[in-house]
Amino acid sequence: MRCIDKNQIEEKLQQGYPLSGRWHNGFHLEMPFGLINDPNGLVFANGQYHIFFQWNPLGCEHKNKCWAYTKTEDFVHYSRPRLAMQPTDAHDKDGCYSGCGFEEEGCVRVLYTCNAKDEAGVRTPAQRLGTLLADGTVRKDEIIVPGEAAGYTAHFRDPYVFVRDGRRYFVLGAQNEALQGRAVVYGEMAADNGGNWEFMGEIKTMYPDFGYMWECPNLLQFADGDVLMFCPQGLTAEAYAYQNRYQSGYVSGRLNLDSMVMEHGAFCELDRGFDFYAPQVLEADGRHIMLGWMGMPEEEAFYPSAEDGWLYSLTVPRELTLQDGVIYQQPVAELLALRKQKSEQQVMAISAYEYQSLLPELCEAKLTIQMGAAEHVKLMLVYGEERLMFCYDRLRQVMTIDRNGMKLGARGVRSFMLSAGNVLNFQLLVDKSAVEVFFQDGREAASMLIFPETETAPQLIVQGDSSLSKIEGSIWELSSYKL
Ligand code: FRU
Repeated sequence: MRCIDKNQIEEKLQQGYPLSGRWHNGFHLEMPFGLINDPNGLVFANGQYHIFFQWNPLGCEHKNKCWAYTKTEDFVHYSRPRLAMQPTDAHDKDGCYSGCGFEEEGCVRVLYTCNAKDEAGVRTPAQRLGTLLADGTVRKDEIIVPGEAAGYTAHFRDPYVFVRDGRRYFVLGAQNEALQGRAVVYGEMAADNGGNWEFMGEIKTMYPDFGYMWECPNLLQFADGDVLMFCPQGLTAEAYAYQNRYQSGYVSGRLNLDSMVMEHGAFCELDRGFDFYAPQVLEADGRHIMLGWMGMPEEEAFYPSAEDGWLYSLTVPRELTLQDGVIYQQPVAELLALRKQKSEQQVMAISAYEYQSLLPELCEAKLTIQMGAAEHVKLMLVYGEERLMFCYDRLRQVMTIDRNGMKLGARGVRSFMLSAGNVLNFQLLVDKSAVEVFFQDGREAASMLIFPETETAPQLIVQGDSSLSKIEGSIWELSSYKL
């Protein structure tokens, strides 16, 4: 355990704002230094959204995992992120790993995984409660589940609390002794029984053999179904699926907590880009709001902002809706307040092969492209000689995202099926180095980090291989979030 000097970190943090540096984003949460990963402890309580996330304040490696904390009422004004919790004792000396938040009697409580390793590198996990204090730090409370349940390895982490019929449960990411990923559930016992948590077993899904570990599960209840979100590790890439090192996705259906059987449809990925992992969802006033980590484990060597001392961002908050068993994602409505000026929906081009527009550095673009005779449409963000490209093949109904036109940072191509018929619709959120795209009204989403070599605002180019019938849309300059 490396000693983390809280006061020194706080001082450095104070000096770190406002964020500066060529790739720091305006409306994506990130830290002035260190590496961030999973959003943690998300909860709406006392009129505020509380947001924690994994943070190594000492460097850009996956070590020294602490929790950082910020809060907001409106997803536009945030408190200055600070250090909330750090490894302190034998239980969490090798990391305050991921966990969730929930409200209890007006307090924000958290439940997180303590990670400890012995000299031989053998892990011991423990699930521990905590309480957010007025100064934005977390008081560590009791351990409610030491070690792992029989039949599972020490990869036993990332609790997510949910409530059913007034009873509290949590779902946990696990690996069984056959080295298969699982989601297991604990249920809280009545207080007169000691207030302990009992192991209820694993969720029986149609995926008994689907990767070697499931990280960061979330169990969500929508009006017409349950959703089990999780991050399977170890899937083999397919032509149109599972193209990242690790995946994030969900199954939707019904979970019966008596039998622990979940009847559900096929696993769907939540994001088709390059940099998205470990999402977490909070429920507030009937809304399901998700934040994801814009990053990917074990890829940090490819991201040049590490040279400037910082790595990774969180996605913007996205509202989830479940429609016919499918999750649709949209930036939360609060982000409309980031739009700097009104922009009417306008016809940008009729019967054209190409449309071009210079974009503001931070912007949102909503476009509807009627493909007409075109079989291929390209949408590009061009930064001088570099480009990020989205190519749609109408006949095959395949969208391809191509990052090979960027010089710095990770590159590559991602492809997925997108049924768009003849009308493509895109919503792009373009920040300095973070780009999020929503396709077909949020039917699919894609997150990616790009590191343009020169500081130029991007140019948007839409091209058809034959005349496109019409391009309509709006472009807004966006402001940064406020601290
Ligand atoms: C996912 C993850 C979690 C773990 C945390 C540690 O990115 O590996 O399983 O709790 O990150 O930072």
